[in-house]
Amino acid sequence: MKRHLISAADLSRDDAVLILDTAEELARLADRPIKKLPTLRGRTVVNLFFEDSTRTRISFEAAAKRLSADVINFSAKGSSVSKGESLKDTALTLEAMGADAVVIRHHASGAPHRLATSGWINGAVVNAGDGTHEHPTQALLDAFTMRRHLIPDASGVGQDLAGRRVTIVGDILHSRVARSNVHLLATLGAEVTLVAPPTLVPFGVESWPCEVSYDLDAVVGKTDAVMMLRVQRERMNAAFFPTEREYARRYGLDGDRMARMPEHAIVMHPGPMNRGMEITAEVADSDRCTAVEQVANGVSIRMAVLYLLLGGNESAAATARTEESK
Ligand code: NCD
Repeated sequence: MKRHLISAADLSRDDAVLILDTAEELARLADRPIKKLPTLRGRTVVNLFFEDSTRTRISFEAAAKRLSADVINFSAKGSSVSKGESLKDTALTLEAMGADAVVIRHHASGAPHRLATSGWINGAVVNAGDGTHEHPTQALLDAFTMRRHLIPDASGVGQDLAGRRVTIVGDILHSRVARSNVHLLATLGAEVTLVAPPTLVPFGVESWPCEVSYDLDAVVGKTDAVMMLRVQRERMNAAFFPTEREYARRYGLDGDRMARMPEHAIVMHPGPMNRGMEITAEVADSDRCTAVEQVANGVSIRMAVLYLLLGGNESAAATARTEESK
């Protein structure tokens, strides 16, 4: 595995399966009454968040704490960033404090790459979402959730998602979740179809390893997982569709559409959801929707990523057991 996790495209099939398997092992340990493992004791993880976040920030914090790392949470609001401090000076400050890993979310696509290649810091850099570019740990937790549901045999350990059909629906243009998922799912052997109005399909999508459709009804009947994306109004500077009602009617998932999915197929959403827009409350609250489960799986995935980047090269469970018996 590389030293940083910037893009889902940096992961080989073996890297990705190793992360999923490690997360599976860690998830089993989390079922014990005491969830904390001593594995990263004495290491420091900094959460550097320049953009709003609920799930991702809390999830990285919980993951680092369950591995006994020291966690420093930094959010741009209320810091010297609002006084004009640059990314470089912020990074040098973190380095001076001895960060072993920096988890960064930034509104600028490419900021985590800059941090990883600048030489300002020595620790591992993990991209927690950069602009409209990538969100690799989200794609990993989505793949983990799919593997658990679609390859039930011992939660799919050691296996990829070969031949599974995944439909990603909605605001693809502004979605780092979609971009990371397309890369990772292709690496894991899944067949991906993107569905969106033509105005929300990114330029150059022909070179992505997936199909594109403008007709949700034509694909829902033959898919194993449907991933609904939030319409990202905060990134829109123009009108991309006529009305919300029109969008919901053509690209939203309601009970009728969900009923046309194969019986085993799941509905996914990375959150935050716009209920009534891309997904109805009926679907969001149904037991086919894995949104809440995805959040729980996110902690296991981020534990696995931090564990592997910060030097774990044997089984996570074995390390935990050895340290416990000391
Ligand atoms: C996503 C994000 O921030 O990219 N959410 C998340 O991390 N769970 C998707 C979104 O904001 O719609």
